[in-house]
Amino acid sequence: MSSDLDAQLQAIRADGEQVFADAATLEALKQAEARVLGKKGPLAALFGRIRECTPEQRGPFGQRLNEAKAALAERAQGRRAELEQSAAAADLKQAQAFDPTLPPPVVARGSVHPVTYVQWEVEDVFERLGFSVVAGPEMETEYYNFEALNIPAMHPARDMQDTFWLTSGMLLRTHTSPCQVRAMERFGPPLRVIAPGRCFRYETIDASHENTFFQLEGLMIDRHISIANLIGIMKLLLREIFKRDVKVRLRPGYFPFVEPGFELDMSCSICDGAGCATCKRSGWVEILPCGMVHPNVLRFGGIDPHEYTGFAFGLGLTRLAMMKYGVGDIRVLNSGDLRPIVYPEKFSGTPITMAE
Ligand code: PHE
Repeated sequence: MSSDLDAQLQAIRADGEQVFADAATLEALKQAEARVLGKKGPLAALFGRIRECTPEQRGPFGQRLNEAKAALAERAQGRRAELEQSAAAADLKQAQAFDPTLPPPVVARGSVHPVTYVQWEVEDVFERLGFSVVAGPEMETEYYNFEALNIPAMHPARDMQDTFWLTSGMLLRTHTSPCQVRAMERFGPPLRVIAPGRCFRYETIDASHENTFFQLEGLMIDRHISIANLIGIMKLLLREIFKRDVKVRLRPGYFPFVEPGFELDMSCSICDGAGCATCKRSGWVEILPCGMVHPNVLRFGGIDPHEYTGFAFGLGLTRLAMMKYGVGDIRVLNSGDLRPIVYPEKFSGTPITMAE
């Protein structure tokens, strides 16, 4: 009886040793251990058969069983150590394949739109002159866009600006000038504000026209403001932006909300004044319509025109960006070309909103 059990024990032990040696992974070893040494394994079954032995054989057989079990457990442990060591070696090899001195993959970074960048630059210049940056709504009332700017209904000047009308009776502002009367109402005189923003016109798009573009309105109201103040500040602005003296010319210009009104043109920097598609072959680009605030507009803003005077200008930000960066076609600016022109050093901040 005992020799039969002994033979089985030998076979189980030899088999178990082989199975552990064959385990190629830690996971396989774990499974092999459960199979050989587990509660339902062959060794456990032999323990159950001790009672088949004679009383004298029981002790020695039980001892041999325990020895075999301990020896097998030790084999498994040895194999585990081997497998762990080779796994660690593989990890190390992989770690050595990582070279921390390699440059990281290139990540496409966003950049600031040229118009935004020019806007920030202009804001910077005016903030140094004591102007505040304000913002009006893009969806405007007829009152602020036209009426309060001395352009009554039926006035032919409404045709100067083809307008997107909304079904609600409101409109998409055709210029940033509605910010003038909003600022007068909100802050009162004396007043120094600039209002950058998006404007919309029902235009056919070509190299120099867009239905969506950016302007930057300027308004300064105080006692004794004259045309000399206006011209001085306009020249300073262009000098700061272009970092050189820019050739300009002043022509009379008609806008119902200024009197007198001017068109300030700058020599086209795309063709250096020779004439190209951007400047309509004239060599000059209209960039700064401006003038002295009309007394009626001051009255609409609740300001006494006998006490205060002021000047206003409507800088074409989109056009200025084109001149500054040599973009010959306005359509490029909305084309989704993400190549950066410049990176900002500074963001001027959040404008004071004047929307209700
Ligand atoms: N708002 C005018 C326009 O877009 C420009 C302008 C602004 C003219 C301020 C004079 C003074 O046509």
